[in-house]
Amino acid sequence: MRAGWPAGRWMDNLRACVKGIPMGDVTGQEECELDAAPRVPTPFVLVIFGASGDLTARKLVPAMFNLFRERRLPEVFWIVGFARRGKSDGEFRAEMREGAERFSRSRPINPNEWAAFETRLTYHTGAFDDGAAYASLAERLRGLPGADRIAGHYLFYLATSPEYFAGVPRRLAGAGLLGDRARQKVVVEKPFGVDGGSAARLSEAIHGATDERSVYRIDHYLGKETVQNLLYFRFANSVYEPLWNRRYVDHVQITVAETEGVGTRGGYYDGAGALRDMVQNHLMQLLALTAMEPPASLDAESLRDEKVKVLRSIPSFREEELGRHVVRGQYAGYRGEPRVGAGSRTETYVAARLMIDNWRWSEVPFLLRTGKMLQRRTSEIAVVFRRPPSVLFQARCGPSLARNVMTLRLQPDEGIHLRFNTKKPGQGVIKPVDMDFSYAGRFGSYTPEAYERLLSDALNGDSTLFTRDDEVREAWRLIDSIQGQWDGLPVHEYARRGWGPEAADALPGERSYRWVTE
Ligand code: BG6
Repeated sequence: MRAGWPAGRWMDNLRACVKGIPMGDVTGQEECELDAAPRVPTPFVLVIFGASGDLTARKLVPAMFNLFRERRLPEVFWIVGFARRGKSDGEFRAEMREGAERFSRSRPINPNEWAAFETRLTYHTGAFDDGAAYASLAERLRGLPGADRIAGHYLFYLATSPEYFAGVPRRLAGAGLLGDRARQKVVVEKPFGVDGGSAARLSEAIHGATDERSVYRIDHYLGKETVQNLLYFRFANSVYEPLWNRRYVDHVQITVAETEGVGTRGGYYDGAGALRDMVQNHLMQLLALTAMEPPASLDAESLRDEKVKVLRSIPSFREEELGRHVVRGQYAGYRGEPRVGAGSRTETYVAARLMIDNWRWSEVPFLLRTGKMLQRRTSEIAVVFRRPPSVLFQARCGPSLARNVMTLRLQPDEGIHLRFNTKKPGQGVIKPVDMDFSYAGRFGSYTPEAYERLLSDALNGDSTLFTRDDEVREAWRLIDSIQGQWDGLPVHEYARRGWGPEAADALPGERSYRWVTE
């Protein structure tokens, strides 16, 4: 671990468990606790820029409330909402309560718990580009009750529109609020740039105000329990790893399907599209976690090093091959959505076939697809294995012998399924069956929200589940090679509540496989 860099403590403990130190008997019947006690950060102030926005009421404050209820916050902490609109503390608290009542996983809200929590909420009126507002913020932070125990431990969360992502850190630094790199951190929401160039400029601007190690770029997929489980699944077991390579894997499918349309977000979405909104971040992260090598060590930097290596191994697309590897679609009626251009060519669906040119994955296609207004909401990773050799059953059945498929279902109905062939009782019929593991069935319905995990990690100085500058750049390199050259590609209209454009069905078709959709 590099000196001075925050460690992923739970990951270190995972390593200890994998090595078998506290794992107990050889049958592995015992649990291995990664976090002996819930982590509690030292006293802090969380300042949310853009506190009038949706994210604050929907996700951030409900997540903090749940951390509070679960005693994962220290005795002294403050949450300061910072936004332009003038508002009293009372108004801010009432709005946040309404949000928690609608969106918190701990609904209905316990009034006593909320009453205790809301005393920590306060509001600071200010424009994001007004230096004086930062000076008054600095003064306010220094004067908060318990400031001596807080001792400058500040987390600044940029939930603003992206145009302020560079300016806010600069002004914070100007007001002397980012001087202590270990205790004063900046969390940046997505989108981080609109292409490689803008992302690089943004990083550069932020690095002018603080160090990379104090920057926490959010990809909320990394905070999902099931996404974290990808690491556990791969590195806390020994049976899958020998199969996890080009020798046994035919191809991998990563699907993030949504049933909703763009709703009220047309203004943003029409300028972004599915490629930038979903693929550049969430799908690339899922791919990296699925394909990465075991890290040399399990601290935050080693883990992120391995993810970057995967991304670096994906060649950029050449224009002449784009049509064979990428399909873009738009759902019927999208152009009639509020704040969407009448002649919009923005994609609400993308499917892409990527290759990872490294030792483990050479020639194994990774098929990615994501879309809105599809038939079923599901995020899943399906690892499709090769068929057995062309003798015995395979010789008789040919392509009708089902492949083994390991599906990691990330949401909803979180679980893991293994599809394998069995003999159907009676005549000689081979039938694929599923072996299922369901999170809810095994562990009940307790699932912390992604933002709980991410806020808690950022407050504890653990950057394992945040994306680093070089990861973002590599993801953009690939995305730029698509979006910079795909103007000539048709935008296929697809029916609402289907599985996307027919053209995407042909995407996996160079070999005899299909999209795995139950
Ligand atoms: C966001 C995208 O990052 O992720 C949205 O901007 C998308 O367009 C959302 O709907 C999906 O997240 P989840 O957690 O609902 O799968």
